[in-house]
Amino acid sequence: MPYYRSVGDVPRKRHTQFRQPDGTLYAEELVGQEGFSSDSSLLYHRHAPTAILAAEEYAPPTVTRVPNLPLKPRHLRTHKLDGTGADPVLGRQYLLANDDVRIAYVLADRPSPLFRDATGDHCLYLESGTLRVESPFGVLDAVAGDYVVIPTSTIHRLVPTGDEPTRLLAVEASGHIGPPKRYLSVRGQFLEHAPYCERDVRGPDTPLLVDGEEVEVLVRHRSRAAGPGGSGTAWTRHVYANHPFDVVGWDGHMYPWAFSIHDFEPITGRIHQPPPVHQTFQGPNFVICSFVPRKVDYHPAAIPVPYNHHNVDSDEMLFYTGGNYEARRGSGIEQGSISLHPSGFTHGPQPGAAERSIGAEFFDELAVMVDTFRPLDLCDAAAVCEDDGYAWTWARKS
Ligand SMILES: [Fe+2]
Repeated sequence: MPYYRSVGDVPRKRHTQFRQPDGTLYAEELVGQEGFSSDSSLLYHRHAPTAILAAEEYAPPTVTRVPNLPLKPRHLRTHKLDGTGADPVLGRQYLLANDDVRIAYVLADRPSPLFRDATGDHCLYLESGTLRVESPFGVLDAVAGDYVVIPTSTIHRLVPTGDEPTRLLAVEASGHIGPPKRYLSVRGQFLEHAPYCERDVRGPDTPLLVDGEEVEVLVRHRSRAAGPGGSGTAWTRHVYANHPFDVVGWDGHMYPWAFSIHDFEPITGRIHQPPPVHQTFQGPNFVICSFVPRKVDYHPAAIPVPYNHHNVDSDEMLFYTGGNYEARRGSGIEQGSISLHPSGFTHGPQPGAAERSIGAEFFDELAVMVDTFRPLDLCDAAAVCEDDGYAWTWARKS
């Protein structure tokens, strides 16, 4: 969705002659969604973006999914997955997935290969450290607290930078991720009641030109074959004749963009506000919400922590990424924890949390929530880092 952006050199009129210093034409590439009927960007390459020298099937790291059986709430401690480091694409440790969305975690310490996911947008949340996102659109630098949305089919490379560990939560959609429609005008402008707006959105601002020949790009794409990592997908390794980062200019509405969770303006009320006020993005059959430090409910008899609730059409995943999450105190939830509260189970604050919260004026919490409309399966890494006692914590005496 993000608003119109123009970077580098573009001709005054689209689809007209635009020549390189040696007199040859730049190669146009229109990248667009929904068959020329939605957002797009128009890029100008030094080399043909169509020139590949080789293509072969590629076997990605395997991912297995098992149903959440027996049905129960889960607590995953992602920091238990810390190994010796990995690359931020191929090293992702998948935790939860369905056919609409896959959720993975990675502690990244090296650049990824060039990668294109032709099956959907990615939304990366940076828990800590810094990350450079390189693409034909240019460079986008991200810091802790940033969400980075990478549109479908954007060839990109993720490069951890700086000394702090780069910890990433990756939300990979089978479709497009954007701001909630209810916050946008019919022409796509953020409305006044939106918790963030254009000034909070960042995108690449200068071209990135890399020379190179015979450049490998790994592509995750749609396929009838039931490939690892999700049904209906497969991977191919393409070798491009020239480095795909050869764009001298582009303009349009489709590009990698970043938004900091710290720029999300919380919506508060006299009594407890429901999670849709925290919604930050929408994807196909899921939403992403941000819980940020905020003043809490100011009715004289308010109970600031949530009431028990059962969203009968959703599985709810929460990633705890800062502060002290008041409603979960005593549950073992810690920095980097993920809770999964599935449909078919009523969840709510831990014992004693409701009484404790009365009179509180401020919650210092930072969390990312993914609510999915179809059930989430558990992937390999979930079994490695699960806290088996979590399901029984509500039955403890406060
Ligand atoms: Fe909930």
